Amino acid sequence: MKKTSLITFALCALIGFSAHADKDDQGNLTAEERESVANLLAREYAALAQQSDPKAILSAEAGRAFYLKKVTVEGKEASCASCHTDNPKETGKHTETGKPIKPLAIRANPERFTNRDKTESNFAKHCRELYGKDCSPKDKGDYLMYLLTLK
Ligand code: HEC
Repeated sequence: MKKTSLITFALCALIGFSAHADKDDQGNLTAEERESVANLLAREYAALAQQSDPKAILSAEAGRAFYLKKVTVEGKEASCASCHTDNPKETGKHTETGKPIKPLAIRANPERFTNRDKTESNFAKHCRELYGKDCSPKDKGDYLMYLLTLK
């Protein structure tokens, strides 16, 4: 192989490689890839739940019940659905500010549950608002299963 063609070859390989790296850096994931990130997170919650109860299995049905469960906060009835609406595929509305909240269901909003820190801080905040403490890994996993199974 001539020297010039070798260099051309090396350059092409380099450009091909960096183009690929760019794609990853920008996090250009397809909807399916995002969904599998959310699935991985659900598995993580399942593993955490099994540390305290080895028989724990995530349940979309339990997640739905948890999503709709009403509690009394400062004399007012509230649930996750108060802001996220009874149907997680729909745009929610903040009960205090009235600001719209993008749907929580993964099929309706593929960006959901793809940023672990964001998910964890939102769970912690909203669970504390309603229950006075963070939700358990089992509750979070069930919740996520429910949102993942909505078509
Ligand atoms: C007072 C209104 C309100 C209530 C009640 C509420 N949320 Fe939220 N929720 C929000 C807002 C606002 C966001 C963030 C908006 C966004 O990301 O688009 C959000 C986002 C989230 C997210 C982030 C999802 C992601 O993209 O990773 C989770 C998880 C969540 N909420 C869980 C809950 C749970 C569980 C409950 C019930 C225990 C609940 N929320 C109740 C307003 C609320």
